[in-house]
Amino acid sequence: MSGKTFYIETFGCQMNAHDSEKVVGALIARGYEPVETPEEAGLVLYNTCSIRDKAEQKVFSRLQQFKRQAGKGKLFGVLGCVAQQEGERIFERAPHVSLVAGSASYTRLGEMLTRIEAGERRVAGLSLDTGETFDTPFPRRDNPHRACITIVEGCDKSCAYCVVPFTRGHERSRAAESVMAEARGLAERGYTEIQLLGQNVNSYRDPSPAAWDFAALLARVAAIPGIRRVRYTTSHPRDFVKAIVDAMDSNPVICDHVHLPVQSGSTRVLAAMQRLYTRDEYMRRVEWIKTARRPCALTTDIIVGFPGETGRDFDETLRLLDEVEFDSLFSFKYSPRPKTAALAMNDPIPPAEKQARLLVLQEKQRAIQIRRNAAWIGRAAEVLVEGRNQALGQWIGRTSDNRILNFTHPGSNGDSLEGRYLPVRVTRAGPNSLVGESASMV
Ligand code: 5AD
Ligand code: SF4
Repeated sequence: MSGKTFYIETFGCQMNAHDSEKVVGALIARGYEPVETPEEAGLVLYNTCSIRDKAEQKVFSRLQQFKRQAGKGKLFGVLGCVAQQEGERIFERAPHVSLVAGSASYTRLGEMLTRIEAGERRVAGLSLDTGETFDTPFPRRDNPHRACITIVEGCDKSCAYCVVPFTRGHERSRAAESVMAEARGLAERGYTEIQLLGQNVNSYRDPSPAAWDFAALLARVAAIPGIRRVRYTTSHPRDFVKAIVDAMDSNPVICDHVHLPVQSGSTRVLAAMQRLYTRDEYMRRVEWIKTARRPCALTTDIIVGFPGETGRDFDETLRLLDEVEFDSLFSFKYSPRPKTAALAMNDPIPPAEKQARLLVLQEKQRAIQIRRNAAWIGRAAEVLVEGRNQALGQWIGRTSDNRILNFTHPGSNGDSLEGRYLPVRVTRAGPNSLVGESASMV
């Protein structure tokens, strides 16, 4: 079996998904060839997530699954957040692994691969002590229309539940000129949507003397000819300033969507989580977004069952949902993570109670989403066509405010509409998506 073929499986967030695109680009530049299955590959990589315990366990079950295939020239590598968190312990737990590298070490990937190719059995890249960002000249992108650009890596916040500062290291902003050059290059190659990525994009600060902040960078990327949509994720309420809403107001290329994780509706729990804002301060940001000149979708993340969360605290979260009416939310049961401050906190909430809170929260949000999506019926929205659902005979579109809007388009005569921007009239709505009919002739 050739040692120059590889297969990569990615877990976790969009940062990880895009890191994998960069790793793939770096491997291809070194003469490696991607293959479709781990069985065929000479080098099998897992780019891992450790945000919650369940995510972390996945990689170990994968490694177990393919253990017998190790040797005979087949190499295994663990990248990403579990690699950084578990470090060289991975070599003990899964002795067939040859490479363990956290995202802060990817700038040294080439050198690490050279050592592995030369036959070294165990190579680790685990230093978090880096001022660099991982900019590869040729990330291999999975989507032909929408491209991610990392603008800031790592995180300098210290949320009590979160493992990310320990797995991705200190915050490093990428030079604005480098971001702009990549964005222009993408526009020239026909990409029309750009997503700016970082654990906390709002704290972006151009390290060059121009010192652009996030709102300035956002406005400049959105002004690049050929770019029709710009998204960004993730925001942190503490660093989300009014200038970002102003930039959205003055440039319709910036999508009508803010993902602003609140985590809890209780100021007391927010303080215990070390989130650095109160419920009222969060609500002020909601007010800016809700009073923007264009209607703008607002989505969030919530953790239930954080240590010490009382029934009353949880009720405040439910009340927040009623007040804000989020367009969508991701909800999680608190999961204790290594090295985090919350690990030392007394956590008397029984697992069944956490589960019950999660279900109550999700039920409430479902009703809110049904209502909010139903308000779209009869209206038209522009979608970027992302694909086709053959079984339903529908095209899959995404609106600027990040809703999935599936639609029929009678005149398309079998031609692909993928990558096109089309107006669609909404005819039906469910809790998680909309259905409509194309409002344009081909
Ligand atoms: N337990 C549960 N959920 C978590 N998140 C982050 N850390 C934890 C944890 N230890 C959630 C937060 C974050 C999202 C990406 O994952 O809501 O915004
Ligand atoms: Fe998972 Fe967080 Fe790492 Fe992303 S940064 S892969 S969510 S642990």
